[in-house]
Amino acid sequence: MLAAVGVCVVFAGFSAVLSQPFNGVQLEPGQSTRVPDGWKQLERVGDSDSVVLTFALKQQNVDQLEDLFWRVSDPDNEKYGKYLSLEDVTSLVEPSKETVETVGKWLQGSGVTDCRVVLSRDFVECSMSARIAERLLGGVKFHRYTDGKRTVIRSEVKYLVPRHLKNHLDFVGGVHRFPSGFKLQVKEKNYQPNFHLGVYPSIIRERYNLSKTDVGSDPKNAQAVAQFLEQFYHATDLEEFMRVYGGGFPHMTETAKVVGPDSGGAGLEASLDVQYIMSSGANISTWFWSTAGRHESQEPFLVWLTGVSNMTSVPWVHSVSYGDDEDSLDPDYMQRVNTEFMKAGTRGLTILFASGDSGAGCREVSKDKNVFRPSFPASSPYVTTVGGTMFHSPYEVGDEDADYISGGGFSNIFDMPDYQTSAVKTYLNKSTKLPPESYYNATGRAYPDVAALSDNYWVVIDLIPTPFISGTSAATPVFAGILSLINDLKFQQGKPPLGFFNPLLYKSGWDLLYDVTVGCNEGCLDELTNLQGFCPTEGWDPVTGWGTPNFTLMKKLV
Ligand SMILES: *[C@@H]1O[C@H](CO)[C@@H](O)[C@H](O)[C@H]1NC(C)=O
Ligand SMILES: *[C@@H]1O[C@H](CO)[C@@H](O)[C@H](O)[C@H]1NC(C)=O
Ligand SMILES: *[C@@H]1O[C@H](CO)[C@@H](O)[C@H](O)[C@H]1NC(C)=O
Ligand SMILES: *[C@@H]1O[C@H](CO)[C@@H](O)[C@H](O)[C@H]1NC(C)=O
Ligand SMILES: *[C@@H]1O[C@H](CO)[C@@H](O)[C@H](O)[C@H]1NC(C)=O
Ligand SMILES: *[C@@H]1O[C@H](CO)[C@@H](O)[C@H](O)[C@H]1NC(C)=O
Repeated sequence: MLAAVGVCVVFAGFSAVLSQPFNGVQLEPGQSTRVPDGWKQLERVGDSDSVVLTFALKQQNVDQLEDLFWRVSDPDNEKYGKYLSLEDVTSLVEPSKETVETVGKWLQGSGVTDCRVVLSRDFVECSMSARIAERLLGGVKFHRYTDGKRTVIRSEVKYLVPRHLKNHLDFVGGVHRFPSGFKLQVKEKNYQPNFHLGVYPSIIRERYNLSKTDVGSDPKNAQAVAQFLEQFYHATDLEEFMRVYGGGFPHMTETAKVVGPDSGGAGLEASLDVQYIMSSGANISTWFWSTAGRHESQEPFLVWLTGVSNMTSVPWVHSVSYGDDEDSLDPDYMQRVNTEFMKAGTRGLTILFASGDSGAGCREVSKDKNVFRPSFPASSPYVTTVGGTMFHSPYEVGDEDADYISGGGFSNIFDMPDYQTSAVKTYLNKSTKLPPESYYNATGRAYPDVAALSDNYWVVIDLIPTPFISGTSAATPVFAGILSLINDLKFQQGKPPLGFFNPLLYKSGWDLLYDVTVGCNEGCLDELTNLQGFCPTEGWDPVTGWGTPNFTLMKKLV
């Protein structure tokens, strides 16, 4: 409320002035404006059609925030677990008065008046006509695009902002980036679904050593799944799922809260996320964070990100199955997203991202020259990234192998963070099957950090149990739910939550998880080299991280 009042004050009193000839600079010069495969351009957007833009205001004291983030996350630091409230984070990083006024004047002077601010005061979201937006951003041209299911408004012309705003804005959202995410695959197998095992809650709980008393019981605990693919879940599917598969462990059958719209058709991803986080993180309040039904110019991922900064009280663990190719994004944009993850970690939140479903990935840089293709935010040093595994034998709850789709590799943008240097160097020194060095940057942030089963899930959708669902977006909510169980035990002992998990993980990885050592992820399967990606070893590796959960061992964290 205060924030909103603040902005009204700043924005008031500037009447529209005629715009000056545009002397602009590009923000995010590295952002791709290529229309992704599967999308096609429709008509030009009408002058009076409305668009929504998100302005990321330059923050202050980001260095101090980062320093604090590492301290509260490091189990050997005296500040470990001493998290900050959103209010405290805000007073540290909120934009300067000058920034707020400069951006406010610019918007107001351009006729933009319908704006909302987040509680942390570093994002402003404004609605305006396309005509005003196109002038505001130095001549972008908005079109509608469709992928057959939904339409979005985007511009293939890069945006400019007046030169004097360069030091006040990190980026403007809602112009170039298309909705993206990892789509679960239906991996048809040669065997009949009823003869082979498949993965459902009792299998997960057995494999990961969750007994029927390993469920949440602290009322203060909560976890969330975030959605980006225009998806909803149906409460009746969740109930049916728990009726069919929920025997043998206490659980909830309804979510505690839905943020955003909550109606529409049931989607596979949404249904799976909610069904599985509530099966591993059983009996824990679960939020479903929906970004569907938003305005067609908004970016779903940004809607979630700003939402987290606009609530004083959010769940402790967030499972997010979303990612873009790192090479399609501008480093300044990614750095700002990283700052948002630092804000979250400093508040004690644990953020998990799926590592992606294309193995090490592949990008053609020129004829006959390929490189691996990392994904972001999987490659962010400030989140925990989850890869995938499959049962060695599809008929037995036994050993796990790396799933060949499991996203994994090295960032080309972010340096390797201290917490993982020793583990990664050991891997690089020890691995006998490393791909050629020209395919990746061995000094970059390496991922994933952990893994869980990603193959052959059963999901109830439209009341029907559906087999063969696969993807690291299945592994992520499973791992997230298990970290929520650890938080629960910590709360019961009056301790603070896990927060950013990696520094602790890399200090104790050997002792917490089941180490996956068989199978490789896919890479550039080109005619030239027919190259696989990376292959696991004992200990950490860039396919399955430290391995998959073993709750008996993980309980030692508490
Ligand atoms: C933040 O939340 C407040 C109150 O819930 C709301 O009025 C405001 O519009 C939100 N801001 C944004 C940018 O969504
Ligand atoms: C953990 O799970 C494995 C595999 O299902 C099982 O063999 C073992 O007995 C379990 N151990 C404990 C301590 O629960
Ligand atoms: C489930 O959680 C509630 C608190 O949310 C707790 O009161 C209850 O005892 C828990 N049930 C079990 C079986 O632990
Ligand atoms: C690499 O491995 C060799 C032999 O296994 C060992 O002598 C050497 O110290 C290792 N180097 C690093 C940087 O770990
Ligand atoms: C490694 O990173 C540098 C700097 O970001 C980049 O120029 C180079 O292309 C990257 N190498 C690969 C194999 O992607
Ligand atoms: C988990 O750890 C327990 C205790 O060390 C062990 O008995 C069990 O076999 C482990 N489970 C797996 C799947 O490795």
